[in-house]
Amino acid sequence: MKYFFFLFFLCELSTTAEAQSPDFHRQVDSVLNLMTLDEKIGQLNQLSGKEEATGPLSGGSNLLTDIRTGKVGSLLNARGAKRTRELQMLAMESRLKIPLLFGLDVIHGYRTTLPIPLAESCSWDLRLMEQSARLAAIQAASSGIHWTFAPMVDISRDPRWGRVMEAAGEDPYLGSEIAKARVKGFQGKGLGHTDAVMACAKSFAAYGAPVGGRDYGSVDMSDRTLWQVYLPPFKAALDAGAATFMNGLNDLNGIPVTGNQYLQRDILKGRWSFKGFIVSDWGSVREMIAHGYAKDNYDAAAKAISAGCDMDMEGKCYAGDLAQAVKDGKVPVELINDAVSRILYKKFEMGLFDDPYRYCDEKRESQTFNDPQNKAIARDVARKSIVLLKNERDILPLSNTVKTIALIGPLANSKKDMSGSWNVRWPEDNAVTVYDGLTKRLGDKVKVSYEKGCDVSDTSRAGFKSALSMARQSDIIIVSVGETKEMSGEAKSRSDITIPDVQEELVKQLCASGKPVIVLISAGRPLVFNWIADNVPVVLYTWWLGDEAGNAIADVLFGDYNPSAKLTMTFPASVGQIPVFYNYYSTGRPASTVKGSNNNYRTGYIDLDFNPKYPFGYGLSYTSFKYSNLSLSDTSFKNDQSINVSFRLTNTGHRFGEEIVQLYIRDKVASVVQPVKALKGFQKVKLGPGESTQVNFKIDRAALSIYNQNLEEVVEPGDFDIMIGASSADIRLQSKIHVIL
Ligand code: NOJ
Repeated sequence: MKYFFFLFFLCELSTTAEAQSPDFHRQVDSVLNLMTLDEKIGQLNQLSGKEEATGPLSGGSNLLTDIRTGKVGSLLNARGAKRTRELQMLAMESRLKIPLLFGLDVIHGYRTTLPIPLAESCSWDLRLMEQSARLAAIQAASSGIHWTFAPMVDISRDPRWGRVMEAAGEDPYLGSEIAKARVKGFQGKGLGHTDAVMACAKSFAAYGAPVGGRDYGSVDMSDRTLWQVYLPPFKAALDAGAATFMNGLNDLNGIPVTGNQYLQRDILKGRWSFKGFIVSDWGSVREMIAHGYAKDNYDAAAKAISAGCDMDMEGKCYAGDLAQAVKDGKVPVELINDAVSRILYKKFEMGLFDDPYRYCDEKRESQTFNDPQNKAIARDVARKSIVLLKNERDILPLSNTVKTIALIGPLANSKKDMSGSWNVRWPEDNAVTVYDGLTKRLGDKVKVSYEKGCDVSDTSRAGFKSALSMARQSDIIIVSVGETKEMSGEAKSRSDITIPDVQEELVKQLCASGKPVIVLISAGRPLVFNWIADNVPVVLYTWWLGDEAGNAIADVLFGDYNPSAKLTMTFPASVGQIPVFYNYYSTGRPASTVKGSNNNYRTGYIDLDFNPKYPFGYGLSYTSFKYSNLSLSDTSFKNDQSINVSFRLTNTGHRFGEEIVQLYIRDKVASVVQPVKALKGFQKVKLGPGESTQVNFKIDRAALSIYNQNLEEVVEPGDFDIMIGASSADIRLQSKIHVIL
């Protein structure tokens, strides 16, 4: 009883984030002082609800009893205002009544499925991505969720890795900006507001670079690459206030990241002063045994907590063995206290000690699910994610004079595949397919006929005949090909990322009909599709766009939206080019980038051009843009005074359009070899037909800095190339500056 009153007193004291108070620490300490060692360890234990599992369940515990007895601090995979309330009520039966945290993978939308993160990143539209994360957070937070395991901020240079779909592509600068936008979107006005969910920057670190692109594989990486390429988005997420971090399932240079002191204690909690908490990935504490890094659960628990991993997700090593490790003197109790304090702090900050049910509001849940804004936002994000790769003879946008469309392909009318992997599952599939979108857009005015033609990857060509005969009777053929949602995502690495043969064959036969063909490619990763790219006049990369996929695609096909997205991952011409990325280091024997040139004694391949199929930053519009009049406020950078770079951008076409202009810099001579170019700024500029505007970029210290041999961030004197491009391979304006220190 005494404890109950004491807690009641604490709850009275606690406040929400609007008036963030240093009192949280005092309140945390007061609770900590009441806790037994077992209760403390309970807070470090996260278990999965049984309804859905996002990893191999370990069994062996009675979830409900464990919650009632204070042996669980957090649950994942339990959702819904009603369900989470029921579970929270069990936690309120425990001795100290410490509320549970409910976490979930809200990766691209909650009730409304939004485009996959990689697709969205191609919009380069930070406000849009913040808005999309906001929408997901508002819905999730009304449905009992306190915490999303997103954003994934791993850089990815290998499209064989199935999880490229979850992140923001290959570039550390763009990836950092997107990380900030997503964290801001999830956390809204701040923890303590009931529409904010805690963000979780994952997977710390370097998970995106497994050897051979094989998910969960080892990562062998220099410190330079780690600091220069892979860590910046994590630092950006932290600076934006990410409440939590997740470690991962990989090892980095021989040490599993879950047990990695260098990453978690030295960098994140040390050098970067991270005050939130770190959760393990699913079972990753226990999996250190399989890695051969820990002898048993006891050893794994001791190693993980010592390395700085605060919460054990579904690994049950902390719950089973940590108390003994403390009693044996193997783990100092101060480490446990620190981890518990970090977790309790977040629970206070979110106002859960005030009201453990403040996120479980069925009325609010129904309102947020049914808000008419949801569809409009999802559609806008989706159309801004579509990349126009090719548009010969200006076939697009289609005019309203088209009378008959043959819509063909295994993905043209597949609801489930529009949502893509890592969507939150609901009993019904909500996505608008391409067929739905077109028929809705065109009504009775245009006849849209549909034939599947073939499946995504089996070998049957039985459906070709009827597809072809339908195609011959139509004005235009639209073919929707690519990957099913099961083909990219966690544990979905592929060694061959070409479009499956049967689909390519279908496209070839349709092209032979002589009718104009438009190919839509839906996928969770960059695919290789050389025949299509070289022979089909129009190619749109439509990713997995979520609930509004079909409407967004119709918007672009008919010019209701002029495509503006640009690629955030390099598209290889062959699997053999992987890993492939634009910001590679200069070599003494650079490849010729001129197609077909002799590459003897140069870097590259004897059987392949050096260039990728589509470069980073590439994407077309229905209008055209001219870049001119580059001017620099100074050509010498001295005394840390920033330089203003400006140029004129003109819309030279006949339609309103948006152009993503990109600033690249190259440090010509440095104490360590530098990339041939590195993105340091971008803007998305809107212009009406014939309109022009001056675009400005600021070059400051951050844009010029590099990691020197001691991994210190420094600016070195000398010449720098300044490049303004429409893509990383299409530099339109160029100049130089000289840095004097
Ligand atoms: C494993 C995944 O690697 C991780 O990203 C995810 O958040 C957890 N499972 C929880 O579902």
